[in-house]
This record gives sequence, C-alpha cells and structure tokens, in this order.
Amino acid sequence: MKLLFLNGPNLNMLGIREPDIYGKQTYADLEEYIRGFCGDLGIGCEIFQSNHEGALVDAIQAAYQKFDGIVINPAAYTHTSVALLDALKAVGLPAAEVHLSDVSRREDFRQISYVRLACCKTFAGFGFEGYRLAAEYLLTTKSGVIDTAKE
Ligand code: DQA
Repeated sequence: MKLLFLNGPNLNMLGIREPDIYGKQTYADLEEYIRGFCGDLGIGCEIFQSNHEGALVDAIQAAYQKFDGIVINPAAYTHTSVALLDALKAVGLPAAEVHLSDVSRREDFRQISYVRLACCKTFAGFGFEGYRLAAEYLLTTKSGVIDTAKE
C-alpha cells in the first residue's frame, strides 16, 4: 500500500499563517507526522506540496498506476478547482479529502468543495490527525472492510 499525500497553497506557511486557525506546528512538523504514522501503519508514502494548481494536477496524473490512493488537502483550491476534480476522476484512485480546520463552520465560500465529488470521504477539523484518519480509511477501504460508497 502506497499513498500520495498532496497539500495545496499556503500549507507550506503552517506555523506562521493564522495560527489561531491552523495551529503553531510547521509544515515540516506535518511531514514528520505523516511519515511517522505511515511507518507505524506499514504504508509507503510520498508527500508533495505546491502553491500551483497545475503542479498539483501533474502530481495527481503522475500517481496513476504508481499509488494505491491519494490523501489530499487542496487548501484554497478546494473551493475553486474543477481541474483538480477532473484530475482525480481521470486517474480513478481512491481519494480522501482533508482539511485541518472545520471548513463547515467557516465562511460561505468554503462550503463548496469540488474535489469532494471525487473523494470517498472528507476529514475536516481534526488538525494533523485528519491525515492519519484519511490514510487509515483508505487502508481499510482497500482491504474491503468498508464499502467505498460516498458518506
Ligand atoms: C484548509 C481550508 C481551506 O479553506 C483553506 O483555504 C486552506 C486550508 C484547511 O486545511 O483547513 O488553505 O484546506
């Protein structure tokens, strides 16, 4: 089992950007956290962050036949990007959406998620832990314990 973890714009500013919303831990801390739980779960992982929509589209396309699933926090592109939605649909890999903050309790414009239409599940408001929950979900789904039906 090998998962690709994708992070969108401004997540490289974690620790500096709006710490009251996103916490004080840095992006390097997030990478360390992801590598840590993947090691514990016996999952292979690659982590990629970009501030550029096209680079994220390229990363999704490159995952085709190389990864078993994608954990994606598209950040602001969540609310705007049909290109990321189409890329996820194109590769057809099981994908889970993650947000550090609970977007459901934030501004109206954050209530729309295009990528969600290509994801089996969303984890929002769990901070770093959301990434682990998403990975565990994909792991369990992959082994057939949980149906991939949308919830
Ligand atoms: C975010 C939520 C988005 O609305 C925002 O644009 C982000 C981060 C989150 O992780 O909570 O950049 O995806």
